[in-house]
Amino acid sequence: MPGRTVYLETFGCQMNELDSELVAGRLRELGYAFSQDPAAADVVLYNTCSVREAAEQKVWSRLGDLKQRKHDEPNLVVGVLGCMAERDGAALMDRMPVVDLMVGPAELDKLPALLDNAVRTRESLNADAPERISAKLTALQGSASRRSATLAAAEDTLELLDLSRSVSPVDAPAPGTGRTSAYVRITRGCNKFCTYCVVPFTRGAEIHRPPEHIIDECKRLAGAGVIEVTLLGQTVNHYRYEHGAAVSLGGVLQPQKGRTYNGSHHRDAFAGERVTTFAGLLDRIHEEVPAIRRLRFVTSYPRDFGNDVLEVMRDRERICRYLHVPAQTGSDRMLKMMNRGYTVAEYDEFLDRARSYLDEPEKGRPLMVSGDVIVGFPTETDADFDATVALVERSRYKNCFIFKYSPRPGTVAYDKIPDDVPDEVKRRRNNELLAVQARVSGAISAEQVGRTFEVYVEGLSKKSRKSAGATSGAIRRAGSVMLTVAGREPGVAVAEAEPAELEGTVQLSGRTDGDNIVFFDADASEAERLVGTIVPVRVTAAHHLSLHGVRL
Ligand code: SAH
Ligand code: SF4
Ligand code: F3S
Repeated sequence: MPGRTVYLETFGCQMNELDSELVAGRLRELGYAFSQDPAAADVVLYNTCSVREAAEQKVWSRLGDLKQRKHDEPNLVVGVLGCMAERDGAALMDRMPVVDLMVGPAELDKLPALLDNAVRTRESLNADAPERISAKLTALQGSASRRSATLAAAEDTLELLDLSRSVSPVDAPAPGTGRTSAYVRITRGCNKFCTYCVVPFTRGAEIHRPPEHIIDECKRLAGAGVIEVTLLGQTVNHYRYEHGAAVSLGGVLQPQKGRTYNGSHHRDAFAGERVTTFAGLLDRIHEEVPAIRRLRFVTSYPRDFGNDVLEVMRDRERICRYLHVPAQTGSDRMLKMMNRGYTVAEYDEFLDRARSYLDEPEKGRPLMVSGDVIVGFPTETDADFDATVALVERSRYKNCFIFKYSPRPGTVAYDKIPDDVPDEVKRRRNNELLAVQARVSGAISAEQVGRTFEVYVEGLSKKSRKSAGATSGAIRRAGSVMLTVAGREPGVAVAEAEPAELEGTVQLSGRTDGDNIVFFDADASEAERLVGTIVPVRVTAAHHLSLHGVRL
């Protein structure tokens, strides 16, 4: 409802960050204001993640904190969006009566209507007896339905949410102050059903957006000043769109269901003009939207990653030499139990192949790889764990996210395999692996010393923000990515922030095209101009997760 103020906090993966941005854009167009302070908001929304129990616990605790406030301010509207809403369904409302509305990730297009309804309902309550009135609103897919049965009907409106993305003026309020980095979704959902994972249930079946929509979105973002685009999908390299089978509904081209893959490394035999493969999509974006100076994608699945993609990455200079390609474990027995569909040897082969195409340190373009690992999956022995340690050592990840296995209700592992690795063992393995990865990261960083990289400048480093005594306004003023670091409100109008008073020399931070973090000094007077641009930096020193250098 116009005039209301919303606080929106995002948990979980980049998909959720993008969803929050799209939702915030829609609500802003409808006249809602946004605040970074929950206490100042009439509407508190959490866009949630279910991937591990710890992620859900954060939200439970936020909701618990709202109990008293809801009692004092009965008009407050509380909404749970995203994967937790979808997974927990009505049980969440029973457990947490403060929640007025829940919207799953596949139904976010319905949020404006539900929110409007919720605000009106709360305001028509008798404030003395709010508990008498129950007006709970939900828009959930229901895990059981997955999306296949009602694909067209569900997608029609969801695709419109992506299509309605507002890229201006919020994203580019003025030259030099706008956001210059953005996510673009190419695939929704997941068909993999790894036995530990909730995502196929919360996000539904895998579907691919029409290339025309993706390219058009990239063009619009580029037009608004964006120079770095990260394409999103759970198994992003599985992207495939068959034009012959394209369906239009109400004049809108529809996304297509994902297919199964044959695991071939070779060019897709059927990929002619009628099919846009992932390689083809990358190529088209690179060629048709040259203003995007950095094109990257996450998350890659270690299987079905064709040489055609590696060739495009090698031959197109604005595609980043970066892959996030989780192995999950170094034990074949565990991979099988996880239903990952590849062997350790196949994983190793993929990394070798990727490096043989893309690792060109002498040209300032080493291939950087990051990974994910789960420790303590049921029945994991010391020998399985040792195999994971060995994999992490030889994979030479720039960085690796290490997770303790968390049993998720509804998954095959939860139902069929008891969570029998004690937490203490999980913790020990987690710490051991962190130490191994820290050594690997340190060695990789050290190799970068003396090299010169093109660095995409994201903003003031934390150190500079502190020493400048920067307010949150100043942080936001400093640049795009600070939006995600500092505030959790996506796409907030940067122009609302007070200009920062900076003097002398400041430290800026940015990233190489391989996603290495780089710090370098700049004069305060030029700092603002540099944010959001790409500058050459020679690396002079290394720490295990960051590089330090001088601007050339
Ligand atoms: N689609 C991506 C992963 C998305 S989930 C892929 O397959 O690579 C992000 C990461 O969370 C996973 O890579 C996995 O390492 C971790 N994860 C997922 N479910 C988990 C669980 N139940 N317990 C612990 N970690 C989990
Ligand atoms: Fe989850 Fe596996 Fe799909 Fe990744 S590929 S989202 S881990 S089911
Ligand atoms: Fe979490 Fe859902 Fe992403 S479970 S990791 S927010 S897809």
